[in-house]
Amino acid sequence: MELDEVLGRIVDEVAPLRGAGEVADYIPALARIDPGQFGIAVADLGGRVVGAGDWQVPFSAQSISKVFTLALVLAGSDESLWRRVGREPSGNAFNSLVQLEHERGIPRNPFINAGALAVTDELISQVGDATGELLDFLRAESGNPDLRVDEEVAASEATHAHRNLAVTHFMASYGNMHNPVATVLDQYVRQCSIEVSCRDLALAGLFLAAHGVRRDGSELLTSRQAKRVNAIMLTCGTYDAAGDFAYRVGIPGKSGVGGGVLAIVPGRCSIAVWSPGLDARGNSVTGVAALDHFTNMTGWSIF
Ligand code: DON
Repeated sequence: MELDEVLGRIVDEVAPLRGAGEVADYIPALARIDPGQFGIAVADLGGRVVGAGDWQVPFSAQSISKVFTLALVLAGSDESLWRRVGREPSGNAFNSLVQLEHERGIPRNPFINAGALAVTDELISQVGDATGELLDFLRAESGNPDLRVDEEVAASEATHAHRNLAVTHFMASYGNMHNPVATVLDQYVRQCSIEVSCRDLALAGLFLAAHGVRRDGSELLTSRQAKRVNAIMLTCGTYDAAGDFAYRVGIPGKSGVGGGVLAIVPGRCSIAVWSPGLDARGNSVTGVAALDHFTNMTGWSIF
């Protein structure tokens, strides 16, 4: 079956699920999104993209940005990040505080909010304008110069950021924050508020399918580093649902509360899905179902 046929079939298969789940309402600007939307795009190693449904509609990247900030930090440093962030699944909600005290301010992994805040702090130390660096990368890889921060979403999250502020201050109290808390939080929120479409995201994530090589042929990550980022996506990318995601979908994936999921078939392609309705753990109900169909129909699970 051709890929566009596969995607067309998936749009039909998930039609009854459209609108299922709840849109994220703890960021008020996201609560207004029409939950019935669904898009899917697949980019192959040659940079060709096939899409179906609402695959060109921009949405809020939210936690999917954490994959890119992690990759940028690893690209610009030795392995020192791992002295301040772990690499084990948390088994807890993405915004949980409970493990931080027992574990002396070292977040379990770079994809829970605490870990991503530490990664953003690290990126600020490396480059200063962390969000600018991330936007430059996303624009170059997607070929979309118009990618930008949605200022309304950023402002909305910034005024409802008590928990992330608490997490950041808590890490600072353990000496695990190198820049001012307000700066780190501002940069983190802005990174999460970048708007992308499934098309943009599939292209931007392609380096992870291409063993770390960017679209222009240059190397962002070594293939060993790319393997590691994919592994952390598989084990931690969907938080306390990572086991279920691996069971159903069988490839690395990273979700965001905007309803997007970026998934990678190493050596073959990247897939971006989007549908705003979330399950209780913050993952897109229809998006995960679509990825489940995708790996079943293509046989492209890593297992
Ligand atoms: O920090 C937050 O809570 C949001 N900006 C991002 C959370 C998120 O996307 C979790 N993903 N499922």
